[in-house]
Formats: sequence, structure tokens, C-alpha cells
Amino acid sequence: MLSKTMEEALNKQINRELYSAYLYLGMSAFFETGTMKGFAKWMRIQAKEEQAHALKIYNYVIARGGKANLLAIEAPKTKWASAGKVFEEVYAHEQKVTGMINALVELAIKEKDHATFEMLQWFVKEQVEEEEHANEILGKIKTIGDVPGHLFYLDHEMGKRE
Ligand code: FEO
Repeated sequence: MLSKTMEEALNKQINRELYSAYLYLGMSAFFETGTMKGFAKWMRIQAKEEQAHALKIYNYVIARGGKANLLAIEAPKTKWASAGKVFEEVYAHEQKVTGMINALVELAIKEKDHATFEMLQWFVKEQVEEEEHANEILGKIKTIGDVPGHLFYLDHEMGKRE
């Protein structure tokens, strides 16, 4: 059985994962309005991954006899100055999410909740990848030049994500 504090903290994280999905879908919509369909596809897949993260925690809360309370999802912004600005935000956002996961791990340790600690280890590893990918793409954009004409090839590469 989850403690009330842990249940509340995990419900908050479900909300933040769904916000991440919403943010990335918003970024996908932004790329759809331009010519960068590869970036749009990459973001759409990323949004799906975030939904899966939310469901992983949702399923866990239920499995532990807790109650999944779905909270209101904040609306993300709809416009960015460039692809580079989008990925600066993705990188910063993922670093923030890493902080949230770390805080949940700390709480699990404090409560001696070994099952939650174990479940969260998947997210600890996932955040390493999330930050790495965002930073890698940001680095490529900076190297190539943060203007649509220069990003044509990268857009093609991004579109290969399955
Ligand atoms: Fe669910 Fe991108 O962290």
C-alpha cells in the first residue's frame, strides 16, 4: 500500500508526464505549420513516449492499491523562435523532469518504500537518455546553423524516427 504522501507525489508526476506529452505535441504542431515535417514526426513520437511514461506510473499507483487522480494539464505555449529554441526548451524541460524523478526517489528512500524505489529506477535510466538525446540534437542544430534552410538534412534524419 502506498502512503498518502507517495500517492499524491506520484499523481503529480503522472500529470507532469502528461504535460510533457502535451508540450511535445505542441512542438510537433509548431513544426507542422512550417516545412519541418521530420521534426514534427520526431516530436509526435516523443509525445507518445511521454504518454507511456504517465501510464507506467498510473498502472503502478493502481497496482499498489492507490488512487490515480487525474489533475488538470497546463496548456503549453504554441510558438518558438526557431528549431534551436525548441530544443533548448526540450533540454531544459528534461533536466527539470530529472529533478522531479530524483525528488521522488528521495521520498521513496525516506519512506523506506522499496517497491516505489525499484519502479523509479526505470525512470532514472530513462532520464539519462532523454537528456542525452535532447542535448545531442541541440548540439547538431547549433553546429549546422539554426535556420530552416540549413536544417533541411537534419529534418530528413529526424523523420526516420520510428
Ligand atoms: Fe517522461 Fe521525457 O520524461
